[in-house]
Amino acid sequence: MTNSPALLGKVVYQIYPRSFYDGNGDGVGDLPGIIEKLDYLNNGRPGSLDSLGINMIWLSPFYPSPMADFGYDISDYCDVDPLFGTLADFKRLVSEAQRRGIQLMIDFVPSHTSDQHPWFVASRSSRSDAKRDWYIWRDGAVGGGPPNNWLSVFGGSAWQRDEASGQYYMHSFLAQQPDLNWDNPEVRAAMKSAMRFWLDLGVTGIRVDAVDWMAKDRAFRDNPVNRRYRPGADDPYHAFDRIYSQNAPQLTSYLREMAAVVKEYPGGFMVTETYPDRRNIVAEYLKLYDQYLTEVSAPFNFEGIMLPWSAPDFKAFVDQFQAGLQPGHLPIYVLGNHDNSRVASRIGRQAARTAAMMLLTLPGVAFVYYGDELGMEDVAIPPDRIQDPFERRVPGLGLGRDPNRTPMQWSAAPQAGFTGREPWLPVAPNYAQLNAAAEAADPASVLWEYRRLIHLRNTSPALQGSEYEPLELGHPAVFGYVREHGGQRLVVLLNFSDQAATVHTELGRGLLLCAAQSIQDHEPIGLSEVVLPPHEGYVIAITSS
Ligand code: GLC
Repeated sequence: MTNSPALLGKVVYQIYPRSFYDGNGDGVGDLPGIIEKLDYLNNGRPGSLDSLGINMIWLSPFYPSPMADFGYDISDYCDVDPLFGTLADFKRLVSEAQRRGIQLMIDFVPSHTSDQHPWFVASRSSRSDAKRDWYIWRDGAVGGGPPNNWLSVFGGSAWQRDEASGQYYMHSFLAQQPDLNWDNPEVRAAMKSAMRFWLDLGVTGIRVDAVDWMAKDRAFRDNPVNRRYRPGADDPYHAFDRIYSQNAPQLTSYLREMAAVVKEYPGGFMVTETYPDRRNIVAEYLKLYDQYLTEVSAPFNFEGIMLPWSAPDFKAFVDQFQAGLQPGHLPIYVLGNHDNSRVASRIGRQAARTAAMMLLTLPGVAFVYYGDELGMEDVAIPPDRIQDPFERRVPGLGLGRDPNRTPMQWSAAPQAGFTGREPWLPVAPNYAQLNAAAEAADPASVLWEYRRLIHLRNTSPALQGSEYEPLELGHPAVFGYVREHGGQRLVVLLNFSDQAATVHTELGRGLLLCAAQSIQDHEPIGLSEVVLPPHEGYVIAITSS
């Protein structure tokens, strides 16, 4: 008998702290702002539908940082940047969240620090410094130039020459984000103690950033050329197949060491960010589980972001992925995050509601990106307001992430009620209509759809379980599946198209519990023939067969 992973059935809400709520009026969101808005996320009254009902918050980085990559360049792993508040604010956030039944997940960035981190300042100070080997230093190539052909995700070589010592240091992201050398045991010990610092404060979740870049080929061989790369059209980072600069075999033991730390804490869990090769995607995701201590860790799967909005594509992926998971492996589904275009912009407003129903009725953990529960869309950023270093360094390819990081739309007040002054990124032009206050007053809104679905998920034995049964409907636009656990059996039917769709099942009769596009009153429904209006999705409790 396998114990269920701590996060089974949970909903995690991702907050990008800069953009959630500005508590001190400086135009940037902060921790006190998040505390003010906790009741919106979960007011701690089970059964209450005037709050979302999420179970955990994932906070993108709030640590001291020069903000070259908006906090993913950390200069102190054990404190809070003054822009976001203080460590006392963080502690208050933990206790206020816990009081409402919300757990905290921090974003942990193991692969690189800021170039302003004292470790790197020391490392760079001389070739003989005790911290020299904490980062990756190499001599240039014979004849000049960087040590090899490895590239930075954010454009250009992954190597930066340091004039003082004449050597190059490696940076998989910006030059201001030097890569740590995880092959050095002192680095691993320091990073594990940083994890313990937050776990000791009551954090139970760790989202591990950029795992793919933690371990590199120890011989530093050149990556081979990617023959499918189209110069000018593709992200230049894809010019080479990154078989040596990423995911070296020692990664498995590093992840297990980290997971072992998490395991020391009751309820501790670790979720990793890794974007595997898409050529054999189901097998690639399943392989990742072999890398972890699966009782306390699991990888995201990003197919909710990557796949085209097509019923056969989702059916093929989810059916195969679920079938390949071993008992105790936790699937983690997501539709959006701070690095990708928003779901409502990618697939359309109505389809995004259908997608939300899928997300919140699949097994495992559902991650909700802040604002997606309102149907927030990407915002066009005028050139003079661009913030993301990715867009600045590799412009014009649509790689910039500012459009999906704009301020949360709280109300129709100026600046969407996010702040009292000009915010760090512009608010969406449609905020006067599309905002949390307006949607809270409209039971037909996206917000209420999320509230109903999360409430259902929190209280439904079937949705809290891990079982998933494929359903063959033979309709090209409808994806359906059955969830059964604890004496409850549900069927989910999702119409991916803008046309009505009729499907037939042999599931007998049921009770319509929730719909994606409309409000339903727990009506009895025959399952031998179900007509789904355009983009409609139904969760139906099967009452007889
Ligand atoms: C991850 C983060 C991204 C960041 C990068 C470097 O991919 O999600 O936002 O820029 O790592 O830390």
